[in-house]
Amino acid sequence: MARALTNTSPPSVQRAIVQSRYGEAGDVLSFSASHPVTPPSPTQVQVRVHAASINPIDWQMIEGNRSLLVSRPFPFVPLFDLAGVVVAVGDAVTRFKVGDAVHADNKKDGGGASEFANVEQDLVSPKPESVSFAEAAAIPLAAQTALLALEKGGVGEGSRVCVVGASGGVGSFAVQIAKALGAAHVVGVCSGKNEWFVRSLGADATIDYTSTKPHEAIRDRSMHAVIDSVGGREQWVEAQKILKPGGKFVTISRDEDGKVTVGSALSMIWTILGRKLGSFVGDRIGYVPVFLDASHGLLDRVDEMVEAGKVEVHLGARYEFGLEGVVGAIEQGKMGRTVGKSVVELVPDEATGRTSASRVVSEGGAHGR
Ligand SMILES: NC(=O)c1ccc[n+]([C@@H]2O[C@H](COP(=O)([O-])OP(=O)(O)OC[C@H]3O[C@@H](n4cnc5c(N)ncnc54)[C@H](OP(=O)(O)O)[C@@H]3O)[C@@H](O)[C@H]2O)c1
Repeated sequence: MARALTNTSPPSVQRAIVQSRYGEAGDVLSFSASHPVTPPSPTQVQVRVHAASINPIDWQMIEGNRSLLVSRPFPFVPLFDLAGVVVAVGDAVTRFKVGDAVHADNKKDGGGASEFANVEQDLVSPKPESVSFAEAAAIPLAAQTALLALEKGGVGEGSRVCVVGASGGVGSFAVQIAKALGAAHVVGVCSGKNEWFVRSLGADATIDYTSTKPHEAIRDRSMHAVIDSVGGREQWVEAQKILKPGGKFVTISRDEDGKVTVGSALSMIWTILGRKLGSFVGDRIGYVPVFLDASHGLLDRVDEMVEAGKVEVHLGARYEFGLEGVVGAIEQGKMGRTVGKSVVELVPDEATGRTSASRVVSEGGAHGR
């Protein structure tokens, strides 16, 4: 039985964007004005969603690219990253109460594209007070991944780090978190049009990947870690030319994008094993694939950096809730040109008097609303 505020109890139905089968977002998502609101389980909080953010995993899961590994129950409400206000809590919930402003990567259940989402309390953190709901929604998945990748890369005081894909969701957090962890020198690899943005995040240097390979700019093997958010064999090949002996290549992406099949999964395992074995010989360059398992512990640590002003949220495109907005946001994400983070707003921050403090990325390809 869930405990809820009697005067603000959620309704029995809600507005939601619902997925009915696997396929492209424009084909398989539809708007429902009467999607059921289910009560939270004993360990869940129910969140009135104010904003959700977009990640590549959203379109990948909608299209069924990972259906071999994780099957999705239909109907399903997409978007994992969300921020909002707790409106009900399960009986076993101890960390939150009705009225708390929170955010989370609702890693299994999604629900960001609906008015009310149930989230396991272990995934939820209090929303940092210094950010708006839209900004808070942009943090969980990308920033947790960035922190985890940097930790796996051993990044700390005095480190020299190269972030590949520095202008995207994970990369833009990785540049800032690397500096917050004490990195002495951070190089961001991005396209020329986004170099200004990556510099503004605190990168000490940038490399335009459209004209220059990392080893052509970093001429010695001086990097302790390369954090790769782009993927492809060439990132691994290139990293070995700029990493110190014993340095670490941390990747959150695969060599090949697309649907995971039995063949591609076996090939990926084979590739990972081969590269990992290679790290025991020669220059002992570590090959470290990272897969986020979201938790409030990681998110709390990112939030501390946000509250301390060491990490800022940079919103790219902002979309209004509705079928057009959600499909548009997911399709834009699929193009792989996102600068900062894109968000969908269900309750605009202006409506709650919480306008975004961060600037909207307006140069370099993203659109402010
Ligand atoms: N393993 C995990 O747990 C995990 C977690 C989160 C994300 N991921 C994966 O990580 C990847 C990145 O996620 P994201 O959220 O950061 O994506 P995103 O926000 O869509 O970022 C895309 C960025 O990559 C840049 N880019 C594209 N090609 C590049 C290249 N060759 N060199 C440098 N930059 C390049 C783009 O900039 P330009 O437009 O300037 O090219 C854009 O800013 C995705 O494949 C995602 O699925 C994995």
